Amino acid sequence: MTMAERDVLILGIETSCDETAAAVTRNGREVLSNVIASQIDVHKVFGGVVPEIASRQHLTAINRVVEAALAAAGASNKRLDAIAVTKGPGLVGAILIGLATAKAMSFALGKPLVGVHHIRGHICAALIEHTELEPPFLALVVSGGHTSLVDVHGLPDDMTVLGGTRDDAAGEAFDKVARVLGLGYPGGPKLDALAKEGDPKAVFFKRVTLEDGSLDFSFSGIKTGVLNYINSRKQAGLPVCEADVAAGFQESVIDVLSIKTRDALALTGYKSLVLAGGVAANSALRARMREDTEKAGINLFIPSQILCTDNAAMIACAGYYQYMAGNTDTLSLDAYATLPL
Ligand code: KG4
Ligand code: ZN
Repeated sequence: MTMAERDVLILGIETSCDETAAAVTRNGREVLSNVIASQIDVHKVFGGVVPEIASRQHLTAINRVVEAALAAAGASNKRLDAIAVTKGPGLVGAILIGLATAKAMSFALGKPLVGVHHIRGHICAALIEHTELEPPFLALVVSGGHTSLVDVHGLPDDMTVLGGTRDDAAGEAFDKVARVLGLGYPGGPKLDALAKEGDPKAVFFKRVTLEDGSLDFSFSGIKTGVLNYINSRKQAGLPVCEADVAAGFQESVIDVLSIKTRDALALTGYKSLVLAGGVAANSALRARMREDTEKAGINLFIPSQILCTDNAAMIACAGYYQYMAGNTDTLSLDAYATLPL
């Protein structure tokens, strides 16, 4: 790898949930390496992420992951311009492992430390493969912890949240319904696969759109809706087609996301939409957003699957814009379970 003197290299570190990840980007959007050590196998037996186990796993993996990311990028740690790390929101014990690693490197190497908001990272993931994408744009962030419509006026941090979930996040609803259907963890991708075999019109679940004009979401009722449907079928001695339930549930969530996104686009007048976060990996949601935006003449930007779910390339990308804006942190930077955008 030939590196120009003026190239800005950022190491990104992400440990907010169950992926230990490190990546190196050049000049913000070019990914030189993107290493992800998944903990899925460890948490699978418990049916979900166990925070304390996640922290321990991060601790075991982090040094290897960072070294692998530097090696794959062909960059020595001395050549780095800054170290970007997720500061929140997420599991505090898990974030602390990445944060301690980033701080130690920042101190030892004398390089700036850049604390990155995880959701800003998800939004920046769309910049990586779409070099033509520039603010302003609307971002629909759908992950395990968030469902937000964000007006992105400018980078790194000129963003306004237009609407968010009042209870469960979209990914959380996928995970809970997957558990009800006995699909196990991680629920979202399994439900996505099962829904492909079902009829989305066979079982109807209520679309909760809240009061007129609101861009907020509410997904907590849908899990109860699914449970009630299954119980009433069983009580009546009728069979339950799990694939139809999965497809009907998925269609309901996607309808609501589609309606609110259309309203937010109308409100902002923006012609560009970014779909980001783990749930953006959902095949039916991607297809629907493509359909909606084609009809409305909106440019749609979706990261490839590997950049939708948690990764450190998105953190390094967001960190680049903060570093260039002089938005760096001291070694007293904290980890946050919740953090406003
Ligand atoms: O962004 P992410 O990797 O982690 C958080 O920041 O939360 O998102 C994880 C969420 C989980 O709820 C997972 O079930 C969901 O994204 N997810 C999916 C799919 N892939 C991941 N949900 C639906 N369909 C998928 N294909
Ligand atoms: Zn995430």
